[in-house]
Parts: sequence; C-alpha cells; structure tokens
Amino acid sequence: MNGNDISWRPYQKCHSDEQSDEESGVGASASLRIAPLPQTLRSAQGDMLSLDFLGKAYLEHNAVSDSERDKLNMQPKMIKDVFGRMLKDLRISVTDRCNFRCPYCMPAEIYGERYQFLPRQEILTFEEIARLVRIFVRLGTEKIRLTGGEPLVRSGVEQLIGMLSTIEGIEDLTLTTNGYLLQQKAQALKDAGLQRITVSLDSLDDEVFGQMNGRGYGVKKVLDAIEEARRVWLHPIKLNTVVQKGVNDQTVLDLLRHFKGTDVIVRFIEFMDVGNINGWKLDQVVPSAELVRYINAEMPLEPVDKNYRGEVADRYRYLDGSGEIGFISSVTEAFCSDCTRARLSTDGKLFTCLFAGDGRDLRGPMRAGASDEELEALITDVWTQRMDRYSEIRASLTEPPKRKVEMYQIGG
Ligand code: GTP
Ligand code: 5AD
Ligand code: SF4
Ligand code: SF4
Repeated sequence: MNGNDISWRPYQKCHSDEQSDEESGVGASASLRIAPLPQTLRSAQGDMLSLDFLGKAYLEHNAVSDSERDKLNMQPKMIKDVFGRMLKDLRISVTDRCNFRCPYCMPAEIYGERYQFLPRQEILTFEEIARLVRIFVRLGTEKIRLTGGEPLVRSGVEQLIGMLSTIEGIEDLTLTTNGYLLQQKAQALKDAGLQRITVSLDSLDDEVFGQMNGRGYGVKKVLDAIEEARRVWLHPIKLNTVVQKGVNDQTVLDLLRHFKGTDVIVRFIEFMDVGNINGWKLDQVVPSAELVRYINAEMPLEPVDKNYRGEVADRYRYLDGSGEIGFISSVTEAFCSDCTRARLSTDGKLFTCLFAGDGRDLRGPMRAGASDEELEALITDVWTQRMDRYSEIRASLTEPPKRKVEMYQIGG
C-alpha cells in the first residue's frame, strides 16, 4: 500500500441498490394491503405530480385508517447522492470546545485562553438538534453519533440524548469522547438512552499521552472512565487511537497488550490531513497494512468481515480468541465509495464530507421560520447534489484545498 497510489475506482453498487422492498418503503403499500402507486403522474395542467402528493391523494381515495396513513407517512425517503450513497449516518458536533489540546486537532498555541469559541446564541439548541434529527430520520438516517469538540463539556448533554433516544427510527445512538469527563457521566448517559460509546485514547504512556492531549494529562482518568463505561454497559466500547509516526507508534503494542482479552475494541486511525492547521505530512502516516504486519508478528491476527456495509474500520481478531481490533485507513485505503455520513456543525451547518470547505446553513432558515418540509427539502437538495470523495482523490490533487473545516467543528 502506498498513499501515492490512491486512484479512482468505479463505484460499487451501494446497499441502497440492494435493499429489500420493505427497507426501501416500496413494500409499504403491500403491508398496508392497498394497491401499489405509480411513481409519478401528470396533473390536468401537465405538471409532474410527486409520489408524496399522489400518496396523500391515494390515501384519501382509499379511505385508509389514521394509523395506516401514519405508517405510510413514516416510511423514510432514503434519498441518495450523485453516486447512489444514502444518508444513513448523522454526526453531530454539540460543541466546538474541548478540554484537550491535541496538537493534530486544536494546537494550544492557536487555541489559547483568548481564542473565541462560538457564542451561545450561535450554537444549536437541543430542541433545534432534535428537530433536525427527526427530519434526517425521515430521509433515511438511522445512526446518530454525538461528537464535538468534546461532547461531554456541553452541559446537560444527557438531556439531548434523552430527547434523541425517543425518536423512532434511530437504530444506533452513540457518542465519541476523549474520556476525561466520562467517569462521572457514564451512568447518566446510559440512563438517558445512550447505547454505546467510543473513547479516544492515543497512548497508555503518560508522557506520550500528555503530549498528544496537549495538556499533560495522565492516562489514569481515561482508563477509570473506560472501566465505568464497561460497568454501566455502554457496549460495544471502542477505542480510537490516532497513530502518528515518531510520536506514539512505539506505544501501540503496549496499548493492545492492556486491552487484549477484554471486550474493548481498539482501532488504529491513520493520521489524516483534516483541517488546515495540523501540519499534516504523508510521512507521518503509518499505513495500516504495515501496522497489521507489525502487530501480527507478536499477536497473530486474522481478518474478520465487516459488521455492515460501509463500516469505516477493517476488523481483525486475535487468533487465540482474545478479542477484536480495527484499522481505519482513510489515507491508504479510502472508503468514500460507501460513505453515507453527513455532519452537522455546532452552529448548524450541514457538511457532506470531513474534508469539505464549507457547509450549508440550516440554522438560519430554521430560525427564520422554515417548516419541517422546507428544511427537509434543503437537506435533500444538499445531499442529492453530493459528489464528495476526498480521500479517494487526495493523492491526485496537485495542491491541497485552500480551506477545509476543522475536525473539532464537525467531529471526527
Ligand atoms: P462505528 O460506528 O463503531 O462503526 O464507528 P465509526 O468508525 O463509524 O465512527 P468513529 O467516530 O469511531 O470513527 C472513527 C474515526 O474514523 C473518526 O474519528 C475519523 O477519524 C475516521 N472517520 C470516520 N468517518 C470518516 C469519514 O467519513 N471519512 C474519513 N476520512 N474518516 C472518517
Ligand atoms: N487524523 C486522524 N484522526 C483524527 N482525530 C482527530 N484529528 C484527527 C486526524 N487529523 C480523531 C480523534 C478522535 C476522533 C474524533 O478523531 O483522535 O479519535
Ligand atoms: Fe479535543 Fe478530540 Fe480535538 Fe483532541 S481530537 S482536541 S480530544 S476534539
Ligand atoms: Fe466520506 Fe469525505 Fe471521508 Fe470520503 S473523505 S469517506 S466522502 S467523509
């Protein structure tokens, strides 16, 4: 594998093309025992009538019960982008603040005492987030991940989780944290309806960890928090470890030895060129294939199938049966062709790629009184025009994009 070899490959059929009738909503009329609808018809004036319009007219014509009508209206629309990728995941940054200063994300020299984070009125309220999530679910989103910055520094985040956990159609509700505040929050998060958790932890070596969190913080607090997350059963618990050559690559085996034989899944992430300020260079990336060979020499591994199409991590298990680990290889093996992820920034912009320059503002229209239908149309407009595949074309770009959003503004 070589980062410079990244080249275009044809798009595979997405699961959108393979889904069952039931999943796509096509079978809805069958399960409600009414005749199937034509996709479109022309009105008396010759305009194309949408399926939505026809659905309502047809329901009235068939005089179905309220509960049947509700069922039909609740079928998600499963919108697709230009390459046929559905909008399955929404990652929500609930704050742009963080208690760490990881040099690869928020270097302390830039994000010092005087740095102006977003003022409160620019941040989406919990009600606004929940409203948008309901709309995303109508468009096919099933998985919600809360991120930041550090999501646990937003006060009352468990209330937001409580609100989201009642929304029908969300199959997976999870959160990524640096773990520093997790020990005291884990039970409340679980009680509010959080299903599982992912903790970022770059090294077990206090010195290396202190350097990588930019604050000199030690590892113990994060390890205690992981224990607490296990106790309250926020499973499966995953660890995200960004590997930077010459910074923490020498501590990778120690990290694995610590968690081997537990149910915690360690995943190594190739250091990425997110944002504009982390001074990324290709020679700081440890290609996952090399890491696999290195680990395999001490702890024999075998690959495991993905849990679901589009899963970001490549999974491996220890041959001796003592658990699972993963590799996220955005630099050396791009996974854009299956990317069904949208991101909502703290101030309410919709981003369709981790490496995008800007996003579409949803907060403005929402606060100006847009209806749910109007917001739905706005999101649909953005998604159906989406052509992002940055990781696949990274190597062929003659120069990097002028401006990319920072990771802490939209989450990982
Ligand atoms: P599961 O839901 O448990 O499968 O995890 P996930 O891999 O979807 O989510 P997670 O937030 O744990 O992702 C791990 C890391 O992978 C992120 O922090 C990013 O560094 C990277 N990552 C996730 N999604 C993308 C993506 O769409 N593009 C790129 N380039 N990297 C991504
Ligand atoms: N490359 C790879 N991963 C990164 N993360 C933050 N910045 C980068 C980067 N430049 C990771 C964090 C955390 C997740 C949210 O994203 O370490 O695990
Ligand atoms: Fe904070 Fe995560 Fe960024 Fe580190 S990577 S500064 S923990 S948001
Ligand atoms: Fe998705 Fe963009 Fe990441 Fe590709 S680079 S996987 S399109 S977020």
